[in-house]
Amino acid sequence: MRLEQVLFSQGFGTRHECRGLVALGHVEINGITHTDPDEDVPVEGLIFSVDGVKWPYFDKVVIALNKPAGFECSQKPIHHPSVMTLLPAPLRVRGLQPVGRLDEDTTGLLILTDDGALQHRLIHPKRHVPKTYRVTAKHLMTQAMLSTLTQGVMIEGEKTAVKAQAVEMVTDRVFNMTLTQGKYHQVKRMVAAVGNRVESLHRCQFGFYALPDDLASGQWRFISKEDILG
Ligand code: URA
Repeated sequence: MRLEQVLFSQGFGTRHECRGLVALGHVEINGITHTDPDEDVPVEGLIFSVDGVKWPYFDKVVIALNKPAGFECSQKPIHHPSVMTLLPAPLRVRGLQPVGRLDEDTTGLLILTDDGALQHRLIHPKRHVPKTYRVTAKHLMTQAMLSTLTQGVMIEGEKTAVKAQAVEMVTDRVFNMTLTQGKYHQVKRMVAAVGNRVESLHRCQFGFYALPDDLASGQWRFISKEDILG
């Protein structure tokens, strides 16, 4: 692929800007500056750097972000900055989209990708991709409340009961809850339906991918779709 096209495809600006970056000596491969924008470079396993920052080439990109509270998943946020502001410009430019949404006050694992097929596969209700949340409730969570969550509760706007695939008590107010659907405010509404209230919500797993302990709040990393799909 021509070097100009490599940079363009990875979100480094317009074609014209990408030509400029190369011609002006900002781009290195294996420590060597490449200044011909029309040079053909193999993209398989390519790692290039722009102004000393290394970037692996990805046809489609998938990242895991540890979302802090106070950020909205919407592209056009209203009250808080968008999660997109936590990402470097090339990732924003190449059009990454969050896979589903987390509320402004929810923290933890958010997947973002520009792979439309993967996006569809991960949010399609029939695929039942499990997502696990660590829930802190305002009041004591009884065993009866937990079993009701797995048996199913009615929430407004849904014709049939919604169920947790699994729940696991951690302390008397903290529990893990796994859902295979992604309805609006689903965890908060389900917990409200059993007579309690969510005080804080943190997503710890999406499909096979668990939020790594060493990914601090606000940080992101490249992952692969196999990390999520197994
Ligand atoms: N359920 C909620 O209520 N909020 C989230 O952010 C995610 C799931």
